[in-house]
Amino acid sequence: MRRKLVVGNWKLHGSRAGNAPLLAALAAARPFACDVAVCVPFPYLGDVAAAWSGGELLWGAQDCSAHEQGAYTGEVAAAMLADFGCRFAIVGHSERRQFHHESDPLVADKAKAALARGVTPIVCVGESLAQREAGQTEEVVKRQLSVVIHTLGHCAGEMVVAYEPVWAIGTGRTASPEQAQAVHAVLRAQLQAATGHGERMRILYGGSVKADNAAALFAQPDIDGGLIGGASLKAAEFIAICRAAG
Ligand code: 13P
Repeated sequence: MRRKLVVGNWKLHGSRAGNAPLLAALAAARPFACDVAVCVPFPYLGDVAAAWSGGELLWGAQDCSAHEQGAYTGEVAAAMLADFGCRFAIVGHSERRQFHHESDPLVADKAKAALARGVTPIVCVGESLAQREAGQTEEVVKRQLSVVIHTLGHCAGEMVVAYEPVWAIGTGRTASPEQAQAVHAVLRAQLQAATGHGERMRILYGGSVKADNAAALFAQPDIDGGLIGGASLKAAEFIAICRAAG
């Protein structure tokens, strides 16, 4: 039985003053029946660690350098994330693929760098609207994932995968539970064939998950939780989503 996981992706949002009550509200809502994490902007990692350390709530970053260390201005290494108690690092989010031109091999190298430091990569895959309409969804997500599987080798079973159709992110247009399940089943079969661990690996859905659609999505057999953007910034809404996974 896979334990569900709900991860808030704060993206480029937050302030120290505003984060504190959000983190406190989540801590006060414990216990949860699923694993709960937030992936916050780098400067806030210390505050989250201070607020939540020793508890059951988890945290992570939204990116991770592919490099261990060196002359890479602006990068943040996996070892630094581990220093702040990060359990997770999102890699390959479609916003980074789009706005920072991250390629599949770079995403795979970031996932590898994270795992090497004990930080679990949440590897995002997903098709654009044009690709879906052209019937290329399966081909696109399998290609994105296969590069990561190949690069991670025998460690591939340690990653978390997030299916985030680009057309559903921040648009209010969620994939239907059936649409999402169909892609998750494809990804799980690919993971099982490649790693032998597909049945125990967690595959999250992301894209306009809200309190009122979360339960139907999480009820699908291959949807093991969610990667939540906008709705993770509101305590009551995010808590309701976490409860829907329980
Ligand atoms: P929204 O939940 O705001 O659609 O964002 C999804 C997402 O990109 C999470 O990583």
